[in-house]
Amino acid sequence: MRQLKITLLSLLLLVSGLAKADEGMWLPFLLGRNYEDMKKHGLRLTQEQIYSLNEGSLKDAVISFGGFCTGEIISNKGLILTNHHCGYGAIAGASTEEHNYLDNGFWAKSHQEEIAIPNLSATFVVRIEDVTASIAKELKGLNSEDRAAKIRELSAVLTEDATKGTGYKAFVRDFYEGNEFYLFVTETFNDIRLVGTPPQNAGKFGGDTDNWEWPRHTADFSMFRIYAGSDNKPAAYNEANKPFTPRHHLPISLKGVKENDYAMIMGFPGSTDRYLSSWGVEQAITLEQPKRVDIRGKKLEIMKSYMDKDVALRLKYSSKYASVANYWKYFIGQTEQVKNNKVIDKKKALEAQFGKFAAGNAEYAKVLNLISSAYETKKEFVYIDAYQSEFLYQVDLMVAAFRFKFMMDAIKEENTPRAEMIGKRLVEMTGSFFEDKNLNLELESVEALLAMYIKDVPAAQQDEFIKKIAAKGDKGIAAFMALVRKKSIFTDKARFDKWKEKMDQKTLTADPMYKLAMAINDAYTKVQETPALMEAEENLTQGRRLFVAGLREMNKDKQYYPNANSTMRLTYGNVLPYSPKDATHYDFVTTFKGVLEKEDPSTPEFNVDAKMKATYLAGNIGQYADENGELVVNFLSNNDITGGNSGSPVINADGHLIGTAFDGNWEAMSGDIFFEPNIQRTINLDIRYTLWIVDKCFGATNLINEMTLIK
Ligand code: ARG
Repeated sequence: MRQLKITLLSLLLLVSGLAKADEGMWLPFLLGRNYEDMKKHGLRLTQEQIYSLNEGSLKDAVISFGGFCTGEIISNKGLILTNHHCGYGAIAGASTEEHNYLDNGFWAKSHQEEIAIPNLSATFVVRIEDVTASIAKELKGLNSEDRAAKIRELSAVLTEDATKGTGYKAFVRDFYEGNEFYLFVTETFNDIRLVGTPPQNAGKFGGDTDNWEWPRHTADFSMFRIYAGSDNKPAAYNEANKPFTPRHHLPISLKGVKENDYAMIMGFPGSTDRYLSSWGVEQAITLEQPKRVDIRGKKLEIMKSYMDKDVALRLKYSSKYASVANYWKYFIGQTEQVKNNKVIDKKKALEAQFGKFAAGNAEYAKVLNLISSAYETKKEFVYIDAYQSEFLYQVDLMVAAFRFKFMMDAIKEENTPRAEMIGKRLVEMTGSFFEDKNLNLELESVEALLAMYIKDVPAAQQDEFIKKIAAKGDKGIAAFMALVRKKSIFTDKARFDKWKEKMDQKTLTADPMYKLAMAINDAYTKVQETPALMEAEENLTQGRRLFVAGLREMNKDKQYYPNANSTMRLTYGNVLPYSPKDATHYDFVTTFKGVLEKEDPSTPEFNVDAKMKATYLAGNIGQYADENGELVVNFLSNNDITGGNSGSPVINADGHLIGTAFDGNWEAMSGDIFFEPNIQRTINLDIRYTLWIVDKCFGATNLINEMTLIK
């Protein structure tokens, strides 16, 4: 039975490998490979109109927003449209109890009212170049570590050459698991101001309940503006800076979407693992993800208990809570759907094919074994890994103490200027930690996660410092936390302020919070250095690279696309409904009727904004209605996106903006590992709903007037 299933599946894989326009995150500078197929799907633009080095093209209207999301330029005054959940941190950060933009929304009626946001950036792609030829030939025969060093060295030369005499930045990234290398030249603007946002009951309508799910009714958008110096070039924040004039801005179509309409998305997808092995998937869903869900669940429970009691505190933690919750639900969904969509079977079928192809080949015959044995070794280190990222790197009190390690490192290297520079910066950061965070919440999180760490991480891997605490059980943990509360410079602003005058190392290295953070980190570092694990990592890196190289040789006629790595990509397909299971069919649009159906004043997740409701009930929809007079809210397309694409423009066959991508659907939560052509969908916000809110509900006609509308 199993055998049959696998053969059937591999047949399916072969067939579907031929023309899956929907699947694939393509490089905009290599569109020649897809262009004919794009036209078949309905595209009416030339390649030059999408990616050009000479003329303003679509790529010049797409930015990496802050490095974690995407945004698009929608006016000749540098107006940015992105998701609400991308602007969330900025909006919450600009909010206070009196000026609560997160809950009430914000609309700048003039440039003067726009709010400068510190530490936010917008990055354009100037050009992309394939530099594989000059790098790959230097890598022959090197092990992973030497390879990495060689790549760094060659990249430094290439990026230097590419940016000489310009204000641009450049970097080289590897593609196809280290088989190809592309150079990106970019331009980053740092004076970014908040222009408008709906209240979060619209921008986050449906909350965590609806997150990652369809049918959806969320106005997930916010608007910002790029400011530049008088020469239209990047400049640090200055009141005198001018709205940026872009090379291209997206015209906005008010025509709406029909089933099968061409739809493409450009943006900056963060990471996918489409070439992950069956062993990797297995380890992810049995060990790693359930543990991360556990840890995140605990963090959320603690945060929520504090946030419910206090508005100011809620504003401080809203953004943190949303991001922890987002991937908490992501991991739950991915584990569930890897099973439902039989991803491990599909991976095994492909590996069986690969095994046959590789048999007898000097390079490829060993690949599957390299990979599977690596995962066998890595098994017992999964939890310590999970705590390193979820506990040490993500609980703010841990981070506050841990980052002083970098100052201590510089001191040990006797690099005094560097130590002083880092120390100064850290003192500032710790100052904002005391301002922005709640110590009781932080301490409770540290205590809960420390107890979980002690239970989950194999004792042999734990540091002596932790073992001593653990030896006395829960009492040991409580006593240690009492000490932290009473003595640590990180749990009392007055103690910290006193310490920062001399910044003496002895006090720091004896600080219980610092010691805890270092003990977690030392244990992790020690584990990384065990020969068995080092060998496994080396084998895995090599195995993954050779697997992808072999796969591309095995199926010479198939167009493979590289995994997402936060570089600019394009995905094209169509507006489409889907059927997630027997007897269930989902339409490809939702309307405001659905917002009212979901309305539930008893929970903040499903509050309907009063102004929006009144505007709708008054029939004030105007040019934003569809042909039946309905107000479309969200729509589906079969594009291939992932986290980082949030805020990306959805563009029609003529290069006009029809929506903003903001999520994926539950049934395809395994999609970052294996694309599901029949059920994987991108959830988009219809641009007409966005403009209706800006214009009819909140009267920000100043913004509508600067856009280019196509009726
Ligand atoms: N799942 C979306 C993404 O990762 C984020 C949606 C934010 N909304 C929310 N309710 N947390 O892009």
